[in-house]
Amino acid sequence: MRHCIYPGTFDPITYGHLDVLERATRLFSRVTVAVAENPGKGPLFSPEQRLELIRTNVARHANVEVVIFGGLLVDFALSLKADAIIRGLRALSDFEFEFNMALMNRHLQPTVETLFVMPNEAYSYCSSSLVKQVAKYGGDVSHFVPPNVASALRTASGKA
Ligand code: COA
Repeated sequence: MRHCIYPGTFDPITYGHLDVLERATRLFSRVTVAVAENPGKGPLFSPEQRLELIRTNVARHANVEVVIFGGLLVDFALSLKADAIIRGLRALSDFEFEFNMALMNRHLQPTVETLFVMPNEAYSYCSSSLVKQVAKYGGDVSHFVPPNVASALRTASGKA
């Protein structure tokens, strides 16, 4: 029984994140999507809203749960006895940030391994910030986010 954590701010979740999650569900028998409170990133959606937006899209996976966490990721991973942290690498530009984060996490907790998967290249230029920016000015984000997220973005930008 292998268990991994898929952490992120998910402000909001995109099809790129969901692509990583699909891959994780095929590699691990249990996957916990861990929504970081991350107030420092000034998120548009509250942790509870982000969690709900994710939950609707993972309901069909019996082996996926979604939770909110604060504090250090490795402490949270340890408290769940997770075997690994999984992250997506979209392009070379992600590498330095992810590399540093994985090494810092390893320094803090050597027993928790970080694994990387490559999401579908169709989402290589998709990010939560870009999606929020496009939605804010009324652009179509339906290629990048599921319907419930597109609707929440419209509401948040007063374009509903
Ligand atoms: N498809 C599309 N976009 C993706 C993506 C994918 N597969 N993977 C990442 N992204 C984008 C996101 O949209 C987001 O874009 P944005 O910055 O423009 O909003 C960005 O890449 C990263 O967001 P996300 O994947 O949600 O994660 P994050 O980098 O914000 O999360 C944590 C970082 C939560 C894992 C990290 O801050 C953490 O562990 N925090 C807890 C505290 C801690 O332990 N700190 C020490 C860490 S060494």
